[in-house]
Amino acid sequence: MKNYRLATIPSKIVFLLSMIFSVFISCNERLKKDEVKERPSLKKSFKKEFLIGSAVNDFQITGKDSLGVQLIRTEYNTITPENSMKWMFMEPEKGIFNFEMADQYIDFSIKNDLAFIGHNLVWHSQLADWVTKIETKEELSESLKNHIITIASRYKGKIHGWDVVNEALNEDGTLRNSIFLEKLGPEYLVNSFKWAQEADPDVELYYNDYNMTNPEKRTGAIKLVKMLQENGAKIDGIGMQGHWNLDGPSLAEIEESIIAYSKLGLKVMITELDITVLPNPWDLEGAEISQNFENSEFMNPYPDQLPDSVSNKLAKRYQDIFKLFKKHTDKISRVTFWGVNDGQSWLNNWPIRGRTNYPLLFDRQYKPKAAYQSVMQVANDTTL
Ligand code: GLA
Repeated sequence: MKNYRLATIPSKIVFLLSMIFSVFISCNERLKKDEVKERPSLKKSFKKEFLIGSAVNDFQITGKDSLGVQLIRTEYNTITPENSMKWMFMEPEKGIFNFEMADQYIDFSIKNDLAFIGHNLVWHSQLADWVTKIETKEELSESLKNHIITIASRYKGKIHGWDVVNEALNEDGTLRNSIFLEKLGPEYLVNSFKWAQEADPDVELYYNDYNMTNPEKRTGAIKLVKMLQENGAKIDGIGMQGHWNLDGPSLAEIEESIIAYSKLGLKVMITELDITVLPNPWDLEGAEISQNFENSEFMNPYPDQLPDSVSNKLAKRYQDIFKLFKKHTDKISRVTFWGVNDGQSWLNNWPIRGRTNYPLLFDRQYKPKAAYQSVMQVANDTTL
């Protein structure tokens, strides 16, 4: 009897303890879920204004960057693949498509209820080598058509929009002399949009470019859109890449551009938003971009952390920009940051490799920065 009791008491205690423990865990889980539900986020705060999202990379899509995934799910309602859907990855050899990663991006967006923006179908950069070697107009036209139709048809009905053409303009507003323009003439623009529409009639189609606030380039972009519209191509929106800095472009230039693009009957999107805080080699008088600035302390002034003075300036700049976006919420349909956190931004390696930049709303530990709080203040300010 004694022996029996001695043997059973501990097992009863273990049983009881495990019951208490599992009740505790499940309450805790529920609390955590409620917390996530209740926690304010960018997507909740800007729900009535516009879609808000980020460029994402393969580490996030495959789940290796689990903190990144968590942040994407909590904060955003739209994503754009940073690199993996560019021509060099999608069709590295003529007629041989690689859908493996792209399919995972689309699945991730569907599972997490994120509006997916395909980026991009036609761009002179990150192009596959074989395309640059095509010699005849016929072969290039046929290859371009096949590229667009194959990819856009595969994801028909699954994605929100396509950056059909990326960066087709020079700074003075003329058409960039890419292989496409050189061999196919300006019709390549009209045809690209028509092929995308043919493949997926309901998806939104965009033209996306940088420095879209610069008056000369803006005039060129407006001319390009009118040419598309006059030739019967469907275009739904303009993507103004927001690779901006602490001082420029001015709010007036940004505002004028949002209004001008909207007057074309298009949705305006701020795509690729990031604000560099580092010196720009182009601003240095007499500096050559080819000059080697790597390891230059002067060009990489904040290797360990961003001083409060600059962090506050960044927060103020983001706040001013978002006030403007909120003012024009009837014209702006989406704002997309170019990267999830500072450590993942391309601006750590461009235009100079190996610097430490701080261009986004989340720091290297995935924590919201002062800039995040300042953007959220705009969202929550009912007087704006
Ligand atoms: C351009 C492209 C993007 C990306 C950035 C740099 O803005 O549109 O896809 O390559 O350059 O990351």
